[in-house]
Amino acid sequence: MTVKVAILGFGTVGEGVYRTIQSHERELEALLGKKVEVAAVLIQNKQKERNIAKEVLITTDFNELINLSQLDIVVDAIVGKDPAFNYLKQAIERGCHIITANKEMFAHHGKELLALAGEHQVSVGFEATVAGGIPIIQTLRQLLKVNRVGQIQGIVNGTSNFILTEMREKKQSFADALKLAQERGFAEADPTNDVEGFDAFYKLMVLSRVAFGNEPDWKDVERVGITSITSELIEAADQFGFRFKHVVSIQKEGDKLIGSVRPVLIRKSHPFYHVEGVENALNVYSDIVGRITLQGPGAGMFPTASAVIEDLVYVSQSNHDKKLEAYSVTEAIPSSNGSFNDFWLISGLSKTELSPSIPLVEQLSDQTFIVETTKEEILRKAKEYSSLSYYPILDGTQTFQNKKECITVSI
Ligand SMILES: NC(=O)c1ccc[n+]([C@@H]2O[C@H](COP(=O)([O-])OP(=O)(O)OC[C@H]3O[C@@H](n4cnc5c(N)ncnc54)[C@H](OP(=O)(O)O)[C@@H]3O)[C@@H](O)[C@H]2O)c1
Repeated sequence: MTVKVAILGFGTVGEGVYRTIQSHERELEALLGKKVEVAAVLIQNKQKERNIAKEVLITTDFNELINLSQLDIVVDAIVGKDPAFNYLKQAIERGCHIITANKEMFAHHGKELLALAGEHQVSVGFEATVAGGIPIIQTLRQLLKVNRVGQIQGIVNGTSNFILTEMREKKQSFADALKLAQERGFAEADPTNDVEGFDAFYKLMVLSRVAFGNEPDWKDVERVGITSITSELIEAADQFGFRFKHVVSIQKEGDKLIGSVRPVLIRKSHPFYHVEGVENALNVYSDIVGRITLQGPGAGMFPTASAVIEDLVYVSQSNHDKKLEAYSVTEAIPSSNGSFNDFWLISGLSKTELSPSIPLVEQLSDQTFIVETTKEEILRKAKEYSSLSYYPILDGTQTFQNKKECITVSI
């Protein structure tokens, strides 16, 4: 008996999955009691040289692949919503388990694919859609059996983190750091998805579904990229021991899910302070265990393949009567929507323009200050002065108990 796998795409991820199935053949056979074989690979360009065994079908025609006499698992390692969604629907309807690394497609269509998979008694693996090699989805699934999750924070885009690290360490401009990221293969020729926060946004929506069983309304989620951060701001923050990080956050306030994707400042006490370069990290706050921090490679051929192969084992072993467990339904911890004071770095206003409701803690330069106030007050000010940019300052000293009362800085 063999498990027959088709891989859609043979780029960084597809090739990594193919090579890992070969290199870990014995481990997989021992775990599953069956050999795992790649039966087919879907590509776009037939002219490219690829190191694929002769017996594997290499095709540009999805119909040829989906009509193979035996096919058990389809791995999606192509880019974008279409045609991946359409292919995966067909794979489920044919009775295959599916595994995807494609966050854009899964953020848009995950719910539909999971429902369809439930109808067809097959499983969906999507570990690789968030934070590459970090096993955050499996960790959440395990944790949510009893714990209630209050909040998730994450550095989930390695390109943005690399750029911010370079800007601080080498005192480079945003443009120079981006150029270096492109030269090193960490950023696409068109970096919009990464530096404007779209990629992080998709990952946040996947996390929200797993942790809270739902998503915030997409249009209510603040999405701010890193393009507004200047070397001057980074230097001013650095003098006070703060580091800029691009952080996603999701938490429940009353009945509402509040999500954000934005640059924030991190104090030394926060676990994200030392997450540098292309590394990713996630903080999960839950009621029994408290805070868990996971850190590791958020992308790359083998880290991502690791997530896909872990899913391959998961879908092969999962109990088909409980398919919809993939999205959690455990109750989330209610948190206050109270107006509590946080620390912020704000810039773009003169001292006289700060009203008494925004008490100054420290002046960093003519127009850059640290203040202590509520988010509501900051937003009011931002409406009044379009030149104002503001960054919450996160620290890592909150315990779960005080989070329950004022569930952390609401970034
Ligand atoms: N790279 C990472 O570290 C990473 C990490 C986590 C998740 N992901 C996600 O994984 C997916 C793949 O990323 P990647 O970096 O491996 O991309 P990539 O290197 O650009 O490779 C994409 C592959 O998909 C094939 N392809 C694209 N569109 C296709 C279509 N319509 N029909 C058939 N084949 C098609 C391409 O074929 P040709 O080779 O013929 O051009 C190529 O082999 C993306 O959704 C990405 O967001 C990537």
